[in-house]
Amino acid sequence: MGRPNIILTGFMGCGKTTVGKLLARQLHYAFVDTDHLIEERSGMSIPEIFRTSGEEAFRSLETTVARELGAGEGMVIATGGRLMLDPDNARALEMSGAVFCLAARPEEILQRVSRSTQVVRPLLDTPDPMARIVELTREREASYARFPQISTSGKSPRAVMNDILARFESR
Ligand code: S3P
Repeated sequence: MGRPNIILTGFMGCGKTTVGKLLARQLHYAFVDTDHLIEERSGMSIPEIFRTSGEEAFRSLETTVARELGAGEGMVIATGGRLMLDPDNARALEMSGAVFCLAARPEEILQRVSRSTQVVRPLLDTPDPMARIVELTREREASYARFPQISTSGKSPRAVMNDILARFESR
């Protein structure tokens, strides 16, 4: 593999997109965000896809994208929060490079997702998003745990990028 991909996973609001863009610039890699790719292709926003076609349809779009990106190289891929928890998606992308899982405390996740007005997360569009974050985090904890963990709590995006680069280069 000439230029192995870097695949970023982790819960919503952990900084996959922000850190991914920095990493791509640093490595002269292309940057791909799976949510954006799906939005571009379907001509709909993620909330629209959830609303009009349902979550299942969104998950199958994720699988198509995972297979396709897994065949490429030289990319930093920021994946939607659940994409890598599907074993087929994980297999397809793991073969193409190194996976890192960004992690943050629920309080920080809530702060970050509330701050971003451009990105709407249908799964957190509930009267009590904190309860939903805690519930989903518990549900997904064991699955995220099988990937190398990168803590983002209290760190700048640049510091997180440097942590990932060090781990990537010493593989
Ligand atoms: C989801 C995470 C979102 C997006 C969709 C579902 C999830 O991506 O794919 O709203 O199930 O965790 P981000 O992790 O980029 O917010």
